[in-house]
Amino acid sequence: MTAGIERLAVYVPSFSLPLAELARARGVPPEKMTQGLGVEAMAIAPPCEDVVTMAATAGARLLRAAGIDPDTIGMLLVATETGVDNAKPVAIFVHELLGVGRRCRVYELKHACYAGTAGLMTAADWVRAGGGRPRRALVIAADIARYALGSPGEPTQGAGAVAMLVGAEPKALALDEETGTYADNVYDFWRPIGRREALVDGKYSVECYLEALAGAFTAYRAGERPLLGPDEALADRLTRLLYHTPFPKMAMKAHRRLVELDWRAAPARWARVGPGVEDAAVASYREAVAPGLAAVARVGNTYTASLYLCLASLLEAEGAGLAGRRLGLFSYGSGCCAEFFTGTVSPDVAAVADAGVGDVLARRTVIDVAEYERLAGAGEAGGEPPPGFMGEFVLHGIRNDRREYGRVRAALAA
Ligand code: CAA
Repeated sequence: MTAGIERLAVYVPSFSLPLAELARARGVPPEKMTQGLGVEAMAIAPPCEDVVTMAATAGARLLRAAGIDPDTIGMLLVATETGVDNAKPVAIFVHELLGVGRRCRVYELKHACYAGTAGLMTAADWVRAGGGRPRRALVIAADIARYALGSPGEPTQGAGAVAMLVGAEPKALALDEETGTYADNVYDFWRPIGRREALVDGKYSVECYLEALAGAFTAYRAGERPLLGPDEALADRLTRLLYHTPFPKMAMKAHRRLVELDWRAAPARWARVGPGVEDAAVASYREAVAPGLAAVARVGNTYTASLYLCLASLLEAEGAGLAGRRLGLFSYGSGCCAEFFTGTVSPDVAAVADAGVGDVLARRTVIDVAEYERLAGAGEAGGEPPPGFMGEFVLHGIRNDRREYGRVRAALAA
C-alpha cells in the first residue's frame, strides 16, 4: 500500500546571524565558515520561542495549507533533541495548541538528529497497517542546535521546525518500503541531562557519520529491486540525493563517500572509471546534492529537522521539474542510528510544493554578534514576542515548574 508525505511546512525563527560576522568576532577567516563549512547564516530563536512553539507554528501552517481538520489526525509525533521536560512530551503541548482531537496517539521521539526519520517511518508503517482505513499522521521535527560560545561547534548552530502530513495520498513524496539501517553505540555528540548546550567530539562525529552512511547505504543497495547490474550505480537511479546536513560541507563529504561506495560495488564500472572518482563526485554533487542545500546554508543545523528542511526547500525550488523522479535520503543521528531510504516525487507535487521556506527566509531580521550573545545568554525564559516575530505561538513563561504557552495576537503573527 502507498504511504508517504502528503505535504510539508517549514518554520524558522525570525532572527538570522551572518556567519561572516561571527567569524570576524571570533578572529577566524570568514571563508572558514562560509566555504570551509558552507554556512552563510544561522537562525537564532528569541526567549519566547522553544521547540513547542516552533513545532506548533509549523504544524498550524501545514494544517491550514492542506485544509485538514485537526480532528482527523490519528497520530501526532514530535521528534526533537531539545525536549522541554524529562517526562512530559513536547507533542502533548503541540496537541493542545493545534486543537488536535482526543482520539489520537501522541508522543515525543528522541534519537539526536535521527528522530525525525524514526517518526516518519513509524507513521508510514502505521498508515500502511491501516489497510484501506483512512489514516493520517502529523509528524513534526523541531530543534534548536546549541553549542558553547566560542567552541568549534558554534558556527554549526541553528533552529527550525518541519511539519509533515503522512498518509496514503502522498502528493509530495511516496516512500519506498525497503530501507537500509545502521546502528552503533558511539560517543560523538551528546547532551547530559541539565545541560543546554550539546557536547561533541567534532572530528570523530564526522567519522561516525560517514561510517554510518557506509553501513546504511550498503544495506540499502543490497536490497534494491530490480537488482543492480554489475556496471550500474544506484545513484544513477536517483535524481537528487539529500543528506542530514549539520553544515553543507558535511553533505559534500557524505556524497563523495557514497559515490565511491556505489561505484566500487559495481565492479565493471569501478575498473573503468575508478581513477576519475574525485571529479565525478564533484560533478554529481553539483547536480544531485547542491540544489537541496540552499535553505540549510541560511538556517544552520536544525538536527532532527535538517533532512526534511532540505526536502521541503528542494521541492519548493524545483517542484514540478521533479515530478515522477526518485530521490535518495540519508538520515543520521549521533549516538548513533542512520537510515538510507528512497521515495518518488508525485506527479501532483506542484500543488503542494510551497512549504513556506522562501517566505520565512525572506522575512527574517538580521542581528549582530552582540545581540546573538545576549539572546544566547537569555535562553528560554519566555516573554513577549520581539518586533518582527513570525511565530504563531509563544512561551509566556515558566511558573511553578509548568510551562505556559499561548497564541500570538493575530497582528504580530501575520
Ligand atoms: N578558508 C576556507 N576553508 C577553510 C579555511 C579558510 N580560511 N580554514 C579552514 N577551512 C576548512 C578546513 O579545511 C575544513 O574543511 P575540510 O573538512 O574539507 O578539510 C573546514 O574549513 C573546517 O575546518 P576545521 O575542520 O578546522 O574546523 P573545526 O575543527 O573548527 O570544526 C567541526 C569543524 C568539527 C565540524 C565543528 O564545527 C563541530 O564540532 N561541529 C559540530 C559537530 C558536527 O556538526 N558534526 C557533524 C557530524 S555529526 C552529525 O551530523 C549530527 C549533528 O547534527 C550534530
